[in-house]
Amino acid sequence: MKRNSSFSSSFDITHNIHSITSPYYYSWQKYFGKVFIYWLGTESFLYIVDPGFLKIMSSKVLAKKWGKPSVFRKDREPMVGNGLVMAEGTAWVHHRHVIAPTFTPLNLKTMASMMVYSTRKMIKRWDTQINSGNLEIDVENEIVATAGEIIAKASFGMGGENGKLVFNQLRTLQMILFKTNEYVGVPFEKLFNLKKTLEAKKIGEEELLDECKTFFFGGYETTSLSITWTLLLLALHQDWKNQLRDEIKQVIGNVEELDINLLANLKKMKWVMSEALRLYPPSPNVQRQTMEDIQVNNLKVPKGTNIWIDVVAMHHDVTIWGINANKFKLERFMNDVNGKSNNKMGYLPFGFGGRACVGRNLTFMEYKIVLTLLLSKFNFKISPSYHYSPTIMLSLRPNHGLPLIVRPF
Ligand code: HEM
Repeated sequence: MKRNSSFSSSFDITHNIHSITSPYYYSWQKYFGKVFIYWLGTESFLYIVDPGFLKIMSSKVLAKKWGKPSVFRKDREPMVGNGLVMAEGTAWVHHRHVIAPTFTPLNLKTMASMMVYSTRKMIKRWDTQINSGNLEIDVENEIVATAGEIIAKASFGMGGENGKLVFNQLRTLQMILFKTNEYVGVPFEKLFNLKKTLEAKKIGEEELLDECKTFFFGGYETTSLSITWTLLLLALHQDWKNQLRDEIKQVIGNVEELDINLLANLKKMKWVMSEALRLYPPSPNVQRQTMEDIQVNNLKVPKGTNIWIDVVAMHHDVTIWGINANKFKLERFMNDVNGKSNNKMGYLPFGFGGRACVGRNLTFMEYKIVLTLLLSKFNFKISPSYHYSPTIMLSLRPNHGLPLIVRPF
């Protein structure tokens, strides 16, 4: 396995990840402050990690008046087409209106049984592996596959082999497209990537509907990463793992007959999730493009400006979270959904305003189901083969997976 400079053993985990995941932004910020302009090839971006600035700016713009950077729209077209993530103006209003009802509590409950089913299938696989004497499981891989199966069923109504096929094709598409990002803003970028673009478009155009793909890409990876990072944090904090187990026992009781209605009462689990999303936000940045001039204090942000909001930087900023910004401290989220930050725009795991994530309730449910079933069944600790290397590849992920030593509880 190739080593890089961001490697470290599990004993060095500090959660202070900004300089590891985004060394350029980290050092530019030191010179240029919390709001500055930088260039990606021919495209300029306004970089923001100042929640006060963002608050004033967003208060002046209606959701339908924000665009998504057109430079990314072209790039990601094969992935999500004109689905909700990239739609703009009245088209966005229409899409959002059509899609939002998918996530009503009633609809979510019907999805719950397939979440339980897929998670139990994963647990069976783990049982078989553990019984064969191999206790090391790459839980990232496993949870991505399970979340992929769930979202493929939810998005395309496909399970079993067909679901797996669609999942594998879409993952390939995502990997192909990610490689093209290095050329964003470089003139004639399409010439560099013609083969990749065509390869990706073939799958994109012929086989899949934009909105289904949007769900798929929006849903499987972010959710599975939030669970994966949580398992790392719980492996490091046995005390909280035990507290969550006690809570599950008290609130849910018999997990063999999991009553979905009780999940909402898992308060500590919600704190854990909120803190995990703060330290390791699966969507590490949020982008916008201004569709008209916006005045922020004495600064005019001209129409067409690309905006890059560095969520990782904000979530680790001591001026927003205090000196313990890089510590796992659930107390922040007791009685405060914004984690006692000094500005609620400093906590953006699901984005902000009218364009905030439409699927977050689905995530809450899946997160609670998967964790409830896993914690009730297994004990785990970090494998000696684990190397801590958080990396941004579209999402914030563990670069070399998350191998854990798993034993029946
Ligand atoms: C931990 C899980 C998730 C995280 C961290 C996450 C994060 C985000 C973020 C940061 C945005 C951009 C918001 C903005 O621009 O202000 C977003 C938008 C979106 N997400 Fe999620 N998401 C998650 C789960 C899901 C799921 C499960 C689905 C669907 C099944 C989904 C579908 C979408 C869609 C369709 C949008 C575009 C909304 C719009 O532009 O109106 N997300 N999400």
